[in-house]
Amino acid sequence: MTDTNTGGDVRLTGISKTYGSFTAVHPLDLTVPQGSFFALLGASGCGKTTTLRMIAGLEEPTTGTVFLGDKDVTDLPPYKRPVNTVFQSYALFPHLDIYENIAFGLRRRGVKSVKKQVGDMLDLVQLGDKAKHKPHQLSGGQQQRVAVARALINHPQVLLLDEPLGALDLKLRRQMQLELKRIQTEVGITFVHVTHDQEEAMTMADQVAVMNGGRVEQLGAPADLYENPRTTFVANFLGTSNLIEAEVVETGGTDLVVTAGGGKLSLPADRCSAAVRTGGKVLVGVRPEKISLAHADDAGKIAEGRNRVTGRIVDSSFIGVSTQYVVNSPAGAELQVYEQNIERDTRLAPGAEVVLHWNPAHTFGLDATQDIDAGVETVEDAS
Ligand SMILES: Nc1ncnc2c1ncn2[C@@H]1O[C@H](COP(=O)(O)OP(=O)(O)OP(=O)(O)O)[C@@H](O)[C@H]1O
Ligand SMILES: [Mg+2]
Repeated sequence: MTDTNTGGDVRLTGISKTYGSFTAVHPLDLTVPQGSFFALLGASGCGKTTTLRMIAGLEEPTTGTVFLGDKDVTDLPPYKRPVNTVFQSYALFPHLDIYENIAFGLRRRGVKSVKKQVGDMLDLVQLGDKAKHKPHQLSGGQQQRVAVARALINHPQVLLLDEPLGALDLKLRRQMQLELKRIQTEVGITFVHVTHDQEEAMTMADQVAVMNGGRVEQLGAPADLYENPRTTFVANFLGTSNLIEAEVVETGGTDLVVTAGGGKLSLPADRCSAAVRTGGKVLVGVRPEKISLAHADDAGKIAEGRNRVTGRIVDSSFIGVSTQYVVNSPAGAELQVYEQNIERDTRLAPGAEVVLHWNPAHTFGLDATQDIDAGVETVEDAS
């Protein structure tokens, strides 16, 4: 399918939304490149849906402008925008079969011959054999694909998806993530996908905007956000980070030297926020999978030049591909370490004295004035 319109980027400039005295979205500048898969990621209530609804025209912005390409669409009603939305509750028409559900948008616009287009859509979402079924005869994932086909048949320039996989169980969700990504690549139109699931955002999107409290906290490609979080919120919300409180003792070189829990650590200056490079306190960050674990008896075998932290294992969980350890150390409580299961050292069990060691290049530095626990998922939030 190459007959889609080429409408240009979605551009939000100074877009905000207030409800009475409450600001749901603070003035926001955001460009979604044409043809990209873009994710708005954040916890419940951070303003994702509100932002999406302003793009769709379902919510009037308090300030700011929405552009599609060069066209200012801020004052256009939803049906006049080349935008379609798929919601979490994708409410198909229960009395119509799948074919007619998909044909609906064309029929409403008075298109006479729908056969070719509906056929193409059924192929695209791989439901050709279900055309005569009613929605209740389909699985959740299949119904979701019908909802996507129903929206895409209108040839929108932009497809907005608001937690479209929220109702599916985990395994089906994973399948549908790949399926949606395939569909987007095939049709080549811009997808803006809202989710609170960081893995989902990273799997699917070219670009992720991490939202927090009505603001975009950081925007980038998944790997870039993961490796170079600029705030504690992004470091904790996207995957897991060990954040260690430390004091800068040496600046000026390509590496910064800090002390934490009585030991020294070094980290690349260019992976530190500007505030940190001048000295003072710093939060030293390292991802759990970057750390290796050695039994204290083997400490002498650790290569020179690695960052080291001593500690004691307090918990370990075997999860097949890896074992996840929790280590208490003078540098920080409950440090997380993920070890791939290649040759398991059976001495690494709760109670064991260990040394955590890693390549200093895998360390980042964040401004210590932030809340160290921002963005940490609590048990109640977990879904
Ligand atoms: N019509 C409204 N009137 C008042 N407050 C609103 C209204 N709509 C949304 N809000 C508030 O704005 C904030 C952002 O809401 P929004 O629906 O954008 O969040 P979200 O990020 O989509 O969350 P979720 O993941 O739970 O769907 C919330 O605190 C919400 O309570
Ligand atoms: Mg929402």
